[in-house]
Amino acid sequence: MDPSRNKNQILSSLEEHRKRLSEKSLIELFNNDPDRGSHFSTTFGDLWIDISKQLIDSTTIDLLADLAEASKVNQFLLDMMAGNPVNWSEQKPALHTALRASRDSKILVEGINVIPSISETFEKMEDFSQCIRSGKLLGATGAPITSVVALGIGGSNLGSLMAYKALSNFSHKDIDIRFCSSIDPVELDQTLDGLDPETTIFVITSKSFNTKETLVLMENAKKWLEYSIGIEGMSKHLVGITGSREKATNLGIEETMIFDLPDWVGGRFSLSSAAGLVLMISIGPTEFFHLLSGMKEIDHKTLSEPFESNGTLLLSLIDIWNRSFLNYPTMAVVPYSSQMSYLPAYLQQLMMESLGKNIRKERHGFGNSVGSVIWGATGTEGQHAFFQFLHQGTDVIPCEMLGFSNSYDQALQGQQNSLFANLLAQTEALALGSSTEKEDLTPDRKLEGNRPSTVILAPKLTPFILGQLIALYEHRTVVSGVIWGVNPFDQWGVESGKSIAIDIELEINEISSSETMTKRNSSSEKLLEKFKIFRNI
Ligand code: F6P
Repeated sequence: MDPSRNKNQILSSLEEHRKRLSEKSLIELFNNDPDRGSHFSTTFGDLWIDISKQLIDSTTIDLLADLAEASKVNQFLLDMMAGNPVNWSEQKPALHTALRASRDSKILVEGINVIPSISETFEKMEDFSQCIRSGKLLGATGAPITSVVALGIGGSNLGSLMAYKALSNFSHKDIDIRFCSSIDPVELDQTLDGLDPETTIFVITSKSFNTKETLVLMENAKKWLEYSIGIEGMSKHLVGITGSREKATNLGIEETMIFDLPDWVGGRFSLSSAAGLVLMISIGPTEFFHLLSGMKEIDHKTLSEPFESNGTLLLSLIDIWNRSFLNYPTMAVVPYSSQMSYLPAYLQQLMMESLGKNIRKERHGFGNSVGSVIWGATGTEGQHAFFQFLHQGTDVIPCEMLGFSNSYDQALQGQQNSLFANLLAQTEALALGSSTEKEDLTPDRKLEGNRPSTVILAPKLTPFILGQLIALYEHRTVVSGVIWGVNPFDQWGVESGKSIAIDIELEINEISSSETMTKRNSSSEKLLEKFKIFRNI
C-alpha cells in the first residue's frame, strides 16, 4: 500500500476500477485465468474459502486490502481483543474473544483481569451440565431433570439454537432440549407439549433481564411449574443467565442458579459465554470447549494471516465490494446442511443488527450503501423456492454457500455427495450460465450467468469446525463495521422500538389514555381503534 493514499483516494480508485471491471463477465475472468479457482481461494483454519466466482480480479482485492489498511482494521481488532472500549456509543469493550483466550492470559477491563471470572463461570457451567448429563440434578420432587427449555430471544437465543441444531448428532440422547423465544402463546404451549414439570428446568437467558418477550415467557413457565410442583420448589427449576443478577433474583431465580453474562459481551456475540450453557448441556463440556478452541484458532488467524490468506478479511472485503461498489443490497446465505438450517437467521441478527446503521464515524465515500440484507434457507429447500430468482431474476443477488465434505455418518456419505453436487452445480450455473454446447437454447431457457457467489467448504460439521465458522462470521462482521465506519456493537434502532411498544401496550390494556397515541400519528391511532373493534368481534 502507498502510505500517502488516504481512504477517500482509495475509494475513488475502487470506483474507477469498478467501471473498468464491469465490462468483463465472470466467464471472461475464468477464461483469462485458467487457475482462477486457486488464485482466489484460501485455506483458513480447516476451511476452504473460494471467492473466485465473485466479480473481482487481483486489483480489486489489492485495492480493498488497501482500504482495510487505511481503515486501521488490525488496530481495531487488537484494541477489541485487549478490552479497550471499541463500542464507542456506549463506551464499552466488546470482549467476546476473551471468553476463548488461554486461561493464563491477562486481559484487563477497568484494571481488573477478566480471565479468572471467566474460568469461574466455565467451571460452574461444567459442574452444572455434568450434573444434568449424569442424571444427578434433581427437581423439587426428587425426580431427575431430563428436559431443558431455553427461554430467550435475539442474541440470547439464536447462537445457541443454531449451534445446538448444527451439533445435534453430538447431543446427549436422554436429555430433551427445546427452545422458545416468541411472546406468541402458541409457541410456549407447543414447546411444553409432552413435558413433565417435575423433570423440566427452564434456562432463562437475558443479558438485561428486561426483555419483554423473555419475561412474559418466564412468567408463563412459572405458572406451568406452580400448577404441578407449587411455589416452594419452583426455584429448583429456574436457571438464569444474565448480566443483571438483581433483576433475576427479584423474579425468583436463586443466586446459586445464576450464571453471569459480563457487560462486555454483546448478545449476538455471546455464544462462547454462559449463554452457551444449553449447548454445553447438550454436547457436554469437552465438545463445548472444542468449539471454543475452534473460535480461538480463528481469532488468532484473523490477527496474524496476511490479507491474501486471511479468510475473515477476504469475506468482509467481498461484502463491502458487493454492497458499496456493485450496489447489491442483499445477500443470500445458503447452507447445504439441514443441521445448519438456523444459520441464515443467526447471521441475519449478527450482521443486520451489527451493520444496519446509517450513523457512521466518518461518512467517507460509501454514500448510503452500507450493511446488507441477509436472508436465505438450506440449499435443497432454497433451490425449490427462490433459486429461480437467483438465476434469472431482474436483480443480482450474491450468494454464500456453505458445504461439508463428510456426512456425520459414513453410511450416508452418498447423500452428502449429492448435497455437494447440488451446491457446486448451482454456483457454476450462477457464475457461468447455461453451458456453451447448449447455445441454441430458447431465451426463456437461457441462463446468462455472471451472478456472484462464495463457497465455504469444511471437512465435517464438528464442534471445532463450527467454532471456526462462528468466529469467522463474528470477525467478518466487525471488520466490515470498521471499514464502513459503523459501530458493530450497539443496536439503538431496536431499543427505541422496544420502548414505543411498552407505551402502546399500556394503552391497549387501557392502563394509559389514548392521548399519547393521538399525539403520535393518525395511522397508529386508526390501527389501534381497528384492533380494539376486531378484538370484540
Ligand atoms: O433484539 C435486540 C436485543 O437487544 C438484542 O441485541 C439482544 O440479543 C436481545 O434483544 C435480547 O436481549 P436480552 O439478552 O437483554 O434479553
